[in-house]
Amino acid sequence: MCGIVSAISATRNVVPILIQGLKRLEYRGYDSAGVAVINGKLQRVRSVGRVIALEARVADDHLAGDIGIAHTRWATHGVASERNAHPHISGGVSVVHNGIIENHAEMRTRLRDMGYEFLSDTDTEVIVHLVHSKLNSTTTLHSAVRLAVTELSGAYAIAVICADDPQHLVVARNGAPLLLGLGNGENYAASDAAALVAVTRQIVYLEDGDCADITLTSVQIIDAQGKTVQRPISRTTQSDAAVELGGYRHYMQKEIFEQPTAVANTLAVIQGDDSLTPAIFGTEAERVLRTTKAVLIIACGTSYHAAMVARYWIESLAGMACSVEIASEYRYREPVANPHTLVIAISQSGETADTLAAMRYAKSRGHLASLSICNVHESSLVRATDLHFLTQAGPEIGVASTKAFTTQLVALSLLAMLIAKLHKRLSREREQELLNDLRYLPTTLCRILELEPQIERWADKLHTLDHALFLGRGMHYPIAMEGALKLKEISYIHAEAYAAGELKHGPLALVSAAMPVIAVAPRNTLIEKLKSNLQEVRARGGELYVLADRNVRIDEDEGMHVIRMPDSSGFLSPIAYTLPLQLLAYHAAVRRSNDVDKPRNLAKSVTVE
Ligand code: M6R
Repeated sequence: MCGIVSAISATRNVVPILIQGLKRLEYRGYDSAGVAVINGKLQRVRSVGRVIALEARVADDHLAGDIGIAHTRWATHGVASERNAHPHISGGVSVVHNGIIENHAEMRTRLRDMGYEFLSDTDTEVIVHLVHSKLNSTTTLHSAVRLAVTELSGAYAIAVICADDPQHLVVARNGAPLLLGLGNGENYAASDAAALVAVTRQIVYLEDGDCADITLTSVQIIDAQGKTVQRPISRTTQSDAAVELGGYRHYMQKEIFEQPTAVANTLAVIQGDDSLTPAIFGTEAERVLRTTKAVLIIACGTSYHAAMVARYWIESLAGMACSVEIASEYRYREPVANPHTLVIAISQSGETADTLAAMRYAKSRGHLASLSICNVHESSLVRATDLHFLTQAGPEIGVASTKAFTTQLVALSLLAMLIAKLHKRLSREREQELLNDLRYLPTTLCRILELEPQIERWADKLHTLDHALFLGRGMHYPIAMEGALKLKEISYIHAEAYAAGELKHGPLALVSAAMPVIAVAPRNTLIEKLKSNLQEVRARGGELYVLADRNVRIDEDEGMHVIRMPDSSGFLSPIAYTLPLQLLAYHAAVRRSNDVDKPRNLAKSVTVE
């Protein structure tokens, strides 16, 4: 993953711009960070850990310069150490990189034979030596970088500076996000506009294969074919205030509590309407959805769980076949494409490498059309799909996805309804009923958040244990999976989810007093079956924690802890039951003194394979 930011200025020291930008990019990686500037000569400071540690080192060293590059790392090749932290240096050239260079081993051998000495274990170091070697045969940094990238395979976004040429900052991208920021007497480049909103809102998104030469007053972009191109300038609407913590202790907590608002904002597209219109998915949506005969959804992690819920909705409401695939697996299979299938990619960030690659692959296999459900307007995914729906969750900073998930579910519920409607499977009355339930959803979510003190009492008991099982049935099985993912991701408690009917086929052997079982028990046609499954657990001494509909008869007892859920519509209940599980994971992690927003080994945006 990793985040990069770079700047060149006529009038000021760029180091504060770079550090500020890195802080905004920490969601992309946070195991080490570094900065390099030119101030007569090339100077570099790197440190292990968070950007705040780098900031202190930079201040101690009085680092300053009017051109510089900076990086926050999520280790792929080589452990998190100062030696492996970017920027890397070769002579007077310095490089920061996001992505993975797949042919780094052979390049390393070749460059060693040319006399280059490697000081890190990273794939990135081949880039800096390669650019340095190209400067022997060409006169400008821009052409050296362009020559160098033709020899790289894999994904990269890079920023390069050279002590002998301090008027030029060169950047290039292929398969990893990179954009330019345009300022007054200064210009910038970064992985995400969030890194630059403090200095500019004028953004130019680079395309794969672009290599840009940035000076104080100009930007020249050369595309993969070697042609000089103009890319459109857009204005980012990202807000600085939206990424403040407010009174909350962690972003995850803030984001859990923002869900009623995030859901209401996502539902603004249906405000005042008494019937659904296809246009909420794009101008071509009606034509595409009318001809759609099947749906394929691809996604990763939490977004994959949203897709799994959507399968139940699309099949049951619209009577349409829906398959769901983990993007990282789909992209390497030989799936049989159906030319009448709509391919949907779900992604909070819109930059997840596996999801983007899976979408490209699906398109290449000849499906009907593509649709993305995404939380980031300017993301690569949104730009790569025919139709899109933007969730209005606002920036999600905590690595654990919360409000992005519930707003994805809102979008998917609208899509399921729309497909059903266009295929004449949704009566007017049912449409009204579902729209009313959706409009009432933010209120329901507020009431569920009031359960927090009860959930904290569960966390008091659970946080000392090492394992947990999560159970659900039907469309709540993916919710159990999401609960388990949240718990393991931030509390580091090993958790597995099972469709409750599967328990007796193996996992029941795990049940003991030391293995708590957390179950989702809404009122639906499967509730009696689920209750039998819970009895199977109780009979083996398992400790049960049940989120139960208030009208379902499950009594508190020794070893049976019950939290009563407020009324929530059957169709939308997966959204409602998600919130207590998020709170449980959050409070367990807090009690274990974990870094809730930046759990170990992870990053928010997974832009590498
Ligand atoms: O940005 P995306 O939705 O594509 O991200 C996919 C996963 O990496 C993400 O949902 C991940 O599983 C979350 N951190 C889990 O909380």
